[in-house]
Amino acid sequence: MSIRISLAGATGWAGSALALAIAKSNDLTLVSAVSRTHAGHDLGDVLDEPLLHCPIYATTQEALAHACDVFFEFTKPDVAKSNVLAALQQGAHVVIGTSGLTDADYAEIARVAEQRRLGVLAVGNFALTVVLLQKFSEIAARYIPQWEIIDYAHAGKKDAPSGTARELAYRLSNIRPSELTIPLEQTLGPVETRGARLTGSQVHSIRLPGYTISAEIIFGMPDQKLTIRHDSGSSAQPYVDGALLAIRKVNTFVGLRRGLDHVLDL
Ligand SMILES: NC(=O)c1ccc[n+]([C@@H]2O[C@H](COP(=O)([O-])OP(=O)(O)OC[C@H]3O[C@@H](n4cnc5c(N)ncnc54)[C@H](OP(=O)(O)O)[C@@H]3O)[C@@H](O)[C@H]2O)c1
Repeated sequence: MSIRISLAGATGWAGSALALAIAKSNDLTLVSAVSRTHAGHDLGDVLDEPLLHCPIYATTQEALAHACDVFFEFTKPDVAKSNVLAALQQGAHVVIGTSGLTDADYAEIARVAEQRRLGVLAVGNFALTVVLLQKFSEIAARYIPQWEIIDYAHAGKKDAPSGTARELAYRLSNIRPSELTIPLEQTLGPVETRGARLTGSQVHSIRLPGYTISAEIIFGMPDQKLTIRHDSGSSAQPYVDGALLAIRKVNTFVGLRRGLDHVLDL
């Protein structure tokens, strides 16, 4: 039986690549889409894909009038949480690709998902190389007590740190906090230069023209260091396979899971 999907952000850079992949799959069907500027149109016409027929609405509430099994969130952080909570109230499992939600947002989403007995899979980055960066970093953090995370993105990315950096810091917090040789309050000079303390990691966000999206973590020990880094290219393709997998697996658990590895056999 086909999985029915409502996709918020279906006309965006990431969402449109996902919509086209869903249209070509045999087991997934888009039943509704969200975009303010294309509301009232058919997504197949907007994306120039004759295989795709799906109405576009300006709001998630309108789109959710079509029954769906999975709601996919690929819009912007300022509306993502309310979209996700609305979808859970309608009885849909949820995949979150949008970055910029806080740990407090996730705590609230987790509570509602548990109450409703639904699955929510939040993935800061669907690319396989990022999933591996997370796994390798978790192994390294067991042996090396000090690390810092650097997140690089294009100048126009509003949210900081990136979803990838947030997710990495969150995951490492389950292992231990990174140690600081000099406590932050003893910094001589502006303490901001040491980055933000985020769930036990120092995180530095760089926003400059010339970058796409990269994430780097440096583990330091006396006289040796380990750097693990992921770089994205300019297409949305690396995210599509992971996003499809998330849609197919999100109904296999109850509550919130953060990271694609929860549904991968790593
Ligand atoms: N997890 C991952 O692997 C991954 C990969 C890529 C991107 N992302 C994240 O996904 C999000 C989207 O990225 P993008 O590059 O695709 O952005 P984008 O190109 O700007 O697309 C945003 C989409 O959301 C819609 N939208 C924006 N605000 C809305 C609102 N208030 N109500 C309804 N629809 C709204 C836009 O349509 P209208 O403007 O017409 O409303 C558009 O369809 C970002 O948070 C980004 O960081 C995550």
